[in-house]
Amino acid sequence: MSNIILTGDRPTGRLHIGHYVGSLRRRVELQNSGEYDKIYIMIADAQALTDNIENPEKVRQNVIEVALDYLSAGLDPEKSTLFIQSQISELTELTFYYMDLVTVSRLQRNPTVKSEIQLRNFEASIPVGFFTYPISQAADITFCKANVVPVGEDQLPMIEQTKEIVHKFNAVYAPESPVLVEPKALVPEAEACKRLPGTDGKAKMSKSLGNCIYLADSADEVRTKIMSMYTDPLHLQVSDPGHLEGNTVFTYLDAFACDEHFERYCPDYANLDEMKAHYTKGGLGDVKVKKFLNNIMQEELEPIRNRRAAFEKDIPEIYNILKKGSEAAREVAAQTLAEVKHAMRIDYFEDMELIRAQSERYKELFRNNASI
Ligand code: TRP
Repeated sequence: MSNIILTGDRPTGRLHIGHYVGSLRRRVELQNSGEYDKIYIMIADAQALTDNIENPEKVRQNVIEVALDYLSAGLDPEKSTLFIQSQISELTELTFYYMDLVTVSRLQRNPTVKSEIQLRNFEASIPVGFFTYPISQAADITFCKANVVPVGEDQLPMIEQTKEIVHKFNAVYAPESPVLVEPKALVPEAEACKRLPGTDGKAKMSKSLGNCIYLADSADEVRTKIMSMYTDPLHLQVSDPGHLEGNTVFTYLDAFACDEHFERYCPDYANLDEMKAHYTKGGLGDVKVKKFLNNIMQEELEPIRNRRAAFEKDIPEIYNILKKGSEAAREVAAQTLAEVKHAMRIDYFEDMELIRAQSERYKELFRNNASI
């Protein structure tokens, strides 16, 4: 069986370091591992429209931002197919057929959909398109027969839903030789990477809260954001014992620091455990820890920032990459859709046997009638 990756993001803003540690960094590693036959990275503009109905321009403007973030993070169009969801009309067709395999109550139980409905105050007026986006996400994942989907933890219910659709589809329509492939989610192992908090210590990085560090931020912006980060409100004097729980700076260190960073920037400690021990004992100031984090973040973000500056010089080429990627994705989707329609018995004009058999049946009827 081939090893195929699909994943993507909604283009509603620039990507931040939460996206980076949650999935993007891993994608680049997987891409460069050489272990995958195909890698599809999708800009989910159609999904973004399901909860930005009044704001199509926002989605349109952010497609290029997300594409630039992808390329600058190290996704390479020679190795990964970057494409735009709405350009693959086969995806909507697959979604329509998969709708037959999912119940309303099953969608209502999806925890991610539930919390998004609350977040958006949709409650009684949930748009059908939004409500059913887990089904369209199953189309995204299955069109290329992806078996691996690197995502953040919040996407697990979507992968679960996709598995159920695949299972049901194969059981109902293709029991002898399965058409669709059940995917596996790949989520970050480190707790800190699963859900990186905002710089203010709030549970989630979000544009509206103004607590994100973006991949495209300048060195100065990153430094300012780190130096004003939320730490431990009880740690007033350097000599006071500090707390690690809910301490954003240490959560970020969990996500980004490795032993070599200590060698380079903070040789007083061999590793993060030693630094944490000193902090909790008392005697280590927040500013020193923040400066260390800043060094690490600058090292990680600088190459990304430099690559972005280079890509920004030729915007038409970025659209060209997306166009080519979309054409390639579309060919694959058309093939899968043909297999799906065949399995569902709706491939009338492809099926010579159907036409022959119906024609025989009518000839037979005609002969019987004639002989009466
Ligand atoms: N739901 C994902 C997000 O909000 C985006 C997405 C759409 C996606 N289709 C996908 C992710 C398929 C993985 C696989 O970020």
